[in-house]
Amino acid sequence: MFQPDLLKGRTILITGGGTGLGRSMALRFGELGANLFLVGRREEPLKEATGAIRAKGARAAYASADIRDFAAVESVVAGAEKEFGRVDTLVNNAAGNFIARTEKLSPNAFNAVIGIVLQGTFYCTLVLGRKWIAAKQPGNILNIVTTYAATNAGSGFVVPSACAKAGVLALTRSLAVEWARYHIRLNAIAPGPFPTEGAFSRLLPSKEFEEKAKNSHPMKRFGRHEELANLAAYLLSDQADYVNGECVVIDGGLWLRGAGEFNDLVDLPDAAWEMLEAARKK
Ligand code: COA
Repeated sequence: MFQPDLLKGRTILITGGGTGLGRSMALRFGELGANLFLVGRREEPLKEATGAIRAKGARAAYASADIRDFAAVESVVAGAEKEFGRVDTLVNNAAGNFIARTEKLSPNAFNAVIGIVLQGTFYCTLVLGRKWIAAKQPGNILNIVTTYAATNAGSGFVVPSACAKAGVLALTRSLAVEWARYHIRLNAIAPGPFPTEGAFSRLLPSKEFEEKAKNSHPMKRFGRHEELANLAAYLLSDQADYVNGECVVIDGGLWLRGAGEFNDLVDLPDAAWEMLEAARKK
């Protein structure tokens, strides 16, 4: 389905690229011919991921930075340009999230998540977008949001993230229109549960939570990293040039399960169905 040179000639800056879904996307983009520049806070995973990408034959480099710091974002982008000449693609993947009762949050807890997810995404988008516009060169941005942003439903117990991701989706759709005239395309992916150490340790903190989440999923499984990475590669590729301002949900039908009034009936055993059917026939 994917040409091996689908992303050839591209240079992709990916935040949170050293771990989890960021790392998986980066590896896949490398397989499809892209150069990768990974950004994250911790050097060790960045170094490891860069090595893994290079081992598969792609070019990769990294810089450690906290994207909550605008000056740090500017210097990261300068570093990436020094390495590769030009960055033409941005994946805003870095995120922060945890479950908590909202009334227990400190202002700084809210700010930490908003800072990474919303401000960090805006800073990276602004720094690269300005450069692309000034150079009259096209650009491509993919933002990783969540299903509770895509559905406009938000979610209890992750309120800072719900607010931040809703903002990222608004940014995606707003700039998709405003910057279309500069040939800058913005899209988003809203993933459901994909196992990563970062997310699962914070959001499904025990095997019991994890099993419950899996059992209540319509497909009884979590997402596979390559499924998300392939969707991301498609959206970034020129094959998707007319897809702009879109948010694609990839969750195996999970959010719809919660939305349909009678969907809990999937848990009704066959014997109970047979009793109901027999009663109807009388
Ligand atoms: N419940 C409530 N408050 C929490 C919390 C939790 N589970 N975890 C952190 N906080 C609060 C801290 O107490 C602190 O507030 P305070 O200064 O008033 O005490 C504030 O959040 C910042 O925490 P700190 O650990 O200093 O910030 P950080 O910038 O190092 O970390 C986080 C940012 C909190 C988002 C951290 O979870 C993180 O780095 N996450 C990145 C990876 C991630 O979340 N991946 C999953 C993505 S889906």
